[in-house]
Order: sequence, then C-alpha cells, then structure tokens
Amino acid sequence: MKKRLLSLATVMGMTLMATAQLTMDVNTKKLGAPVQSTMYGIFFEDINYAADGGLYGELVKNRSFEFPQHLMGWQSFGCVEVKDDGPFQRCPHYVELSDPGHRDRRTGLTNEGYFGIGVKKGEQYRFSVWAKAPKNRATIRVQLIDENTMDERQELAEQKLDITSTEWKKYTVTLAPKKTMQHAKLRIYLHGPNSVCLEHISLFPVNTYKNRENGMRRDLAQALEDLHPGVFRFPGGCIVEGCTLDERYQWKNSVGPVENRPLNHNRWEYTFDHRYFPDYYQSYGLGFFEFFQLAEDIGAEPLPVISCGLSCQFQNPDPTKPGVHVALEDLGPYIQDALDLVEFANGDVNTKWGKVRADMGHPEPFNLKYLGVGNEQWDYDEKHGGYGPVFTERLKKFSDALRAKYPNLKLIGTTGPNSEGWDFDLLQPRMKELKVDLYDEHYYRNEEWFLSHGLRYDVYDRKGPKVFAGEYACHGKGKKWNHYETSLYEAAHMTGIERNADIVHMATYAPLFAHVDGWQWRPDMIWYDNLRMFKSVSYYVQQMFTMNKGTNVLQLTTPKQVGKKTVAVPVANQEGQNGLFASAVYDKTTDEIIVKVVNTSKQPQSVSINLQGMKGERTANVLELWTNGRMEDENTLDKPEKIHPVSLTVPCTEDKKQTVLNDQLKAMSFRLYRIKR
Ligand code: AHR
Repeated sequence: MKKRLLSLATVMGMTLMATAQLTMDVNTKKLGAPVQSTMYGIFFEDINYAADGGLYGELVKNRSFEFPQHLMGWQSFGCVEVKDDGPFQRCPHYVELSDPGHRDRRTGLTNEGYFGIGVKKGEQYRFSVWAKAPKNRATIRVQLIDENTMDERQELAEQKLDITSTEWKKYTVTLAPKKTMQHAKLRIYLHGPNSVCLEHISLFPVNTYKNRENGMRRDLAQALEDLHPGVFRFPGGCIVEGCTLDERYQWKNSVGPVENRPLNHNRWEYTFDHRYFPDYYQSYGLGFFEFFQLAEDIGAEPLPVISCGLSCQFQNPDPTKPGVHVALEDLGPYIQDALDLVEFANGDVNTKWGKVRADMGHPEPFNLKYLGVGNEQWDYDEKHGGYGPVFTERLKKFSDALRAKYPNLKLIGTTGPNSEGWDFDLLQPRMKELKVDLYDEHYYRNEEWFLSHGLRYDVYDRKGPKVFAGEYACHGKGKKWNHYETSLYEAAHMTGIERNADIVHMATYAPLFAHVDGWQWRPDMIWYDNLRMFKSVSYYVQQMFTMNKGTNVLQLTTPKQVGKKTVAVPVANQEGQNGLFASAVYDKTTDEIIVKVVNTSKQPQSVSINLQGMKGERTANVLELWTNGRMEDENTLDKPEKIHPVSLTVPCTEDKKQTVLNDQLKAMSFRLYRIKR
C-alpha cells in the first residue's frame, strides 16, 4: 500500500510539473524593430563536396585533366597521352587517344564521377567535349556504364560522336540511361584507327535547376529556394582564406568561360587527417557569376566574402613567416579585387568587369549591397602571439578604398572565430572603431551554451555595428552530428535572434551541404547522395523561421517578481521559466501575430499567452516540430520525412476582454502559432 501511495505521489508530482504554467504577454499593439528581409539566410562553402559533387550539376570529376595527377578520377586504357598545349590557356591539359595497334584492342577512358555518377532512367544527360581530330576525322563512342552488372551488357546508354575538324570545337550529344543507378561511370572509346584529342569532358543532367547548361542539381537548389532565404553568403568559410595565399578563393578565376577557369586546391581535401579526400579540388565551375545568379533565383541578397590578404590563421599561426600573409604595402591587388568585384556585380556593361558579367549573360546588375572582407581573422595581443593588429590594419585599407568608391556598400568585418573570449573582446571594439556595418560572428557551441545564452543579444552592445551571425550550429558534446535535440536548441536560440532584430540583421546556419560519402564536417543542413537528398531537422527549424519571420518584433515577456516589484522579462530559459524560449513578431503583409515557443524541458509545459490589445476568440494555426522517437533521431536518405513540422490548430479564448492562447507544449518540442489580428 505504501508503495502504491508513493507511486501515486510521484505521478501527481509529474502531473504538477507538467502543468506548471508560464504566462507570456505579447503586446500586439506596439510594433517593435523591423525584422530585416536579410534576417535568415544561407551560408555556402565548398566543404563536404558541396560544390563539385554536390550542388554544381557537373558529373565528371577532373573534366579538364588539371588535377596535379592529371588522370585522377580517370582510368585510361590503350594509348592515352596527356598533353599540355590545349586551347584553354588556364587549363592547358588534354588527352590524345590513339590507335591501340590491333582491331580487337581498345583505347579510351573511364571517369568515376564523384563517388560514382548518379543517373536516373527517364532523364537525359548532356555529354559535351572539346575535341579535334589530327586527321580531320575521328569517332568516339560515349557510354554510361554499370561496371558491376550481371546483365549481358554494361552500357546503360551509348552514343557515337564524329569529330570532324582539325581545329578545337565543342561537340555535344545526349544520353538517356535505361536504368537508374547511383554509381554509374562514363566511358569513352576511340572508335576506328584515327586518333582524337579531348578536352573539358563534361556530363550534366539536362534537367538542372532552371534548366541551365552550366546549372545546379535541381533537387538541392530547389531545397534552397524552399527555404526562402533572405541572404546568401558565399563562397565560405575558410576556403576564402586558403591554407596558403595561393589557395585563397580568387573570384576572378571563377568567372568567364568554364573551360578556362583554373583549378584550385580545396583545403578540405586535407584539413582533417581522419576525413581525408585526396581528390577534392575546386573546379570553379560554380563560380561567382553562378553564385550571384543563384542568389537572384532564390530571392536572396548576395553576400560575397573575399580574402583580406591573410591566409588561414589557424593553419599559419606565425604571421611573420614569409609568404603566409600579404605585407601591408603589397595589399593593392587584393583591394583591387574587392573594388573590381563590386564593378563585376553592379557596374555598367561598358566597364571592364560589368562587361564580363554581361558577356556571361547578365547585363542587368546583380545589385550587390554587402561585402565581407576576411573570414575568421583576428588580431594578436601580447598574451597571444604578440603580432599586433594584423587583421584590422588590413581591413582598414580595404575599408578606406571601398568607402571612397562605394559609400553605400555595407561592409562586413568579423569578430573572429569565437563568440566570446580574448579574441572577441579585442576585435569587437576595433570593428566599432572601423565603423564596419556588420560584424560576422561565428559560434559552433554545445548544448549547454545554447541553453544558457538565451539572452546573448538582449544584453548586446547596441552602439556599434549590427550583428551577422554568419556561422552557427549546436554541436552536441560528444555527439557532433545531426540530431533532433541540437536542432531544437538552435530553434531556442533563434527566438533570441528574432527578439533582438534591432541589432541582429542576419543569421546563417553553417555548413549548408554534405555528401554522405564525402563529408569532412557535421552537422550540416542538407545531406545527399548521388540521387537522393534529405533535409535535416535543422533545415526545418531554419525554414520555420524564414517563412514566419514577420515584419516587426513584438514584445513578448513574462512577469517576474523582483523583490516587491513585478518586472517584465524575456522568455529565454531563465530561472522559473521551465526551459522555455519564446519570441513574437507581427506580419504586416498578412495582419497576423506569430508567436514561437520552444520547450527545451524534458517535461510538457503549459503556457498561457495573453495577446494584449486583441479581443475575441480566434483559431491559431500551429506548426509543431516534435519527435516521439529518441533525441538522437534525425532524418535520413531512407526516411527523409521522419521528423518534420506538422500543422494543427489551437483555439484562442477570450478572458477579461483579451484574447488568450492556452496551450500545452510537449516535452522537447517547438510550436509556432499564427493568429489573425
Ligand atoms: O563551416 C565550416 C568552417 O567553420 C568554416 O569554413 C569556417 O569559417 C569555420 O571555422
């Protein structure tokens, strides 16, 4: 009996915990700070095979034979010779295929693609090649093959292509595979005795995003469009800086004809010894023109970030070593690159770089408004290296030149790789002094940080630049991979971003993309193999915010007893707030109040939300993110929709002539309410 009583008490206690109610007051009459259209965006970096092998639709690896091992990615057979006097000055290598010497022998090449070549039955694939036939005529056979099949024949599709000139020309043919395959290969045979020279061997799905020839993989680009991002930051990340200066991202190399864009290293090839990918390079096929165009397509403001003349400081701890960083007096060309970039994006078609853009098919300006200079850079104080203001003295030179020529351009500096600590404390005031428009903050932090920093932006210095939370994600302690729990904490954190829209103008989760067979860093927002993709729970969190960001902040508080006084405080997992985080906005375009409440407690939580200034009953349309599974759960390629937001409705009642929403949030869940005013 005693035992039974005890368990009854336990049950009652749990019920009491579950129903302890937090009251929230939303002032629906007084509009607060505007929520910037750029508030929630995306961060793109070519990490985890995000560009080549990912978003960029090209299916052939090392298409121009420019990898340092010129046949990497290719298997050659018969008589294949690599030559270097090709038609494209910055990509001079090509192959010559010649007669193997006997009717029954073969000469040719097989390309392995990126972890194989993904092809779908019913789709078409555009094969193209630059070629010449030294004897004026030659023929190649182009195949998509399944090397491991038990079928009688290996080929999924085949076309013959006649090369009809001694001059270099582009030839195109379309392949239609008869079955769907994750790991097909591309094989090219020399057909007949006449030799042939081949350069820039390329294969794209015809069905790319917006059907562009040098286009993006449709499903991945569509996922970006579906996020409705307000800003699009590119091309990184650390690859902006390079491990050495030579390897920094040079935007001028990434524009113009794709055939003539020089290869660059990708530092993510070798950054992590335990995730090593020797064939990871940057073809620059997805270059600055394509980035700007994609930003335009998905309705986001473009935000390029360029090198400030410091190569990665993590990898080059001693900035005085020769060649590691550009000397101040040699910064001229780097600054010119920045000025030219603005001209490329916005300049008249008669300017040098405006013409390059126009020649690429976009005479209208891209309307660039923001430019980041430097990624994760920092200065050194006496206790930390003593090398002085290596970043800020360079940034100042960029800032002077950019401000003089483009006074309306918004300049983005950085507070370094950390969101707090000596480097942050050193840089933040220096960014203020330099009067950058926004500072780029980065924080990959654990669960504890996310749960305890709910007021980060409530207590932030409001006299300086605005905040661009340019890279952030919750990295589980000992569980640095995607899972539901950490995504929920990101949602919790985002309520603080939203509540402080007066100071936070942009926020971009990072990184964006990862190939399941080629990742170096996780968690990431969108995962894929060669044919399929899935949106992580973090993606859905982002989407819930981007699609419900409203136009103005509304004050949302809870009463707190301080001595004899009752004060109104934000809901951000403070004492007595039961693990809740919340924010509210008004949407002028739909005349709706949008309230977001995240319950990070392991118990259900009852909330009573007073919609001050509103009367009468209503129905709230609700989006709920929750899992009845484990906190470690995540969507997968096989179960892409395992966890996703679901719609429901909750009634609002009237109490004391005021609309009130009483609801109960499940343990570890996120509810977003839209209520007509
Ligand atoms: O997002 C991955 C990396 O994290 C970025 O390249 C860098 O800026 C940060 O350290």
